[in-house]
Amino acid sequence: MKIAIAADHGGFELKESLKQHYKEWNLTDLGTYAADSVDYPDYAAKMAKVILQGEADLGILICGTGVGISIAANRYKGIRAALLYSEEVARLAKQHNNANVLVFGGRTMSVDEVIKRIDTFLQTAYEGGRHQRRLDKLDSME
Ligand code: RB5
Repeated sequence: MKIAIAADHGGFELKESLKQHYKEWNLTDLGTYAADSVDYPDYAAKMAKVILQGEADLGILICGTGVGISIAANRYKGIRAALLYSEEVARLAKQHNNANVLVFGGRTMSVDEVIKRIDTFLQTAYEGGRHQRRLDKLDSME
């Protein structure tokens, strides 16, 4: 599975820690590449393009809280960005929502918490069925 990662300055440090932890995954790093102030919508846009063009199967997005970059990513049709604020939510974001972008807060979550949530998400299966009907409705929205 090809996984891409991107962050603004509020998520830069967490992004670097995740790249280090998951170094065998060879994450595609879409930036930002320094701690200088940038705008989170630009990184959500880069991620949406890569996912929607099929260049990555899953994305990880990080800003300070995870809120701004979630709002931005979910403006792109076909993106299902989920802010994983607990392990239970990480499991449900796969089972029910089949999220294709996992979102975290660099200033609100620890590296260990985020790693557990990513691992939980990846170990969980999408349930389909009634959930697929709901995902289809999302894609039919303007
Ligand atoms: C940047 O200072 C901060 O606003 C951003 O990282 C994010 O938390 C927005 O939701």
